Amino acid sequence: MNNLTILGLETSCDETAAAVVRGLPPGPGQILSNVVFSQTEAHAPYGGVVPEIASRAHLEILDGLIERALGDAGISLDEIDAIAATAGPGLIGGVMVGLTTAKALALASGKPLIAVNHLAGHALTARLTDGVDFPFLLLLVSGGHCQLLAAADVGKYRLYGTTMDDAVGEAFDKTAKILGLPYPGGPNVESHAARGNPRAYALPRPLLGRAGMDFSFSGLKTAVRQLVTQNQVNIDDACASFQAAAIDILRDRTAHALARFREDFPDTPRPALVVAGGVAANAAIGSALAKLADQHGFEIRVPPPRYCTDNAAMIAWAGLERFALGERDPLDVSPKARWPLDASGDNRHSGERQQSA
Ligand code: KG4
Ligand code: ZN
Repeated sequence: MNNLTILGLETSCDETAAAVVRGLPPGPGQILSNVVFSQTEAHAPYGGVVPEIASRAHLEILDGLIERALGDAGISLDEIDAIAATAGPGLIGGVMVGLTTAKALALASGKPLIAVNHLAGHALTARLTDGVDFPFLLLLVSGGHCQLLAAADVGKYRLYGTTMDDAVGEAFDKTAKILGLPYPGGPNVESHAARGNPRAYALPRPLLGRAGMDFSFSGLKTAVRQLVTQNQVNIDDACASFQAAAIDILRDRTAHALARFREDFPDTPRPALVVAGGVAANAAIGSALAKLADQHGFEIRVPPPRYCTDNAAMIAWAGLERFALGERDPLDVSPKARWPLDASGDNRHSGERQQSA
């Protein structure tokens, strides 16, 4: 099969993005362009993403971003094989803007439409960047998601564990807010943590040592709030103590998943542990997980941060993988606020973004 060239659109949260990707499964693919407009500034005064502001911003800038993505790639719409857009899960207003734009482009150009699951975009990023083979274990950690998944094939995911309350990125963002640090909290908490003492404050580690692969972060966030209301805290030490607790939780749950993956896929000698989502940009989390993976005989793969946070190259690639299998979607496909990757799995925190302001 010849290389495929796919235009991807992403509008499910507070990043408006368009990208052109070329290649064939299993990757790696070529990223011909990757344009991302972050709405962070528009939402910063509210301390979280405001859905109405997000959809309006997507609507205002998406057309221009598509033109730029095609221009940067040096190609016209004619040379594209298909148009892929996030169809969920996410903030429904934003998803509608991207999906409707993709439908209009598909109709006008006669090109096929691929409706992409945003989580599949994150899941398959490591194939785009590194050509990682199936099956692999995925730890998806972002502001909206916190899941452990076995990726057996395109469209075949087994949900091992998910968060029972907050996503880990959400816990970082809320902790930052409690400590008076600017939004988005993750990177700010990480830089303060680097200067602090992780043992300064005793914080809880919900579910640690318990069986299973689910996560819980709300008790940790509540403990940070109590700490701040009852004491004069040192910000660096509070960030370091919070981050150490978050790392312990991620490490413990992931260790269970590594063992489970071995049972489920005994014939994969050195599988990959892929860490994706915005929180994968955290260097302390990355090095703790790298050590853990190595101890279990797994290869750690952390795609570069710009492809770990929301972007359209991952959506184009997930579309490319499905297109290569002959899959297409009808022009009346519906946007979905909720859309778990594992249809047999439960729906707890399946990726629906909440207004966190
Ligand atoms: O994947 P992403 O861009 O958007 C979705 O949530 O889908 O992830 C954003 C999240 C935010 O919660 C942000 O605080 C967190 O990722 N994040 C980090 C770091 N960089 C981004 N969390 C911890 N440490 C970081 N360095
Ligand atoms: Zn995401």
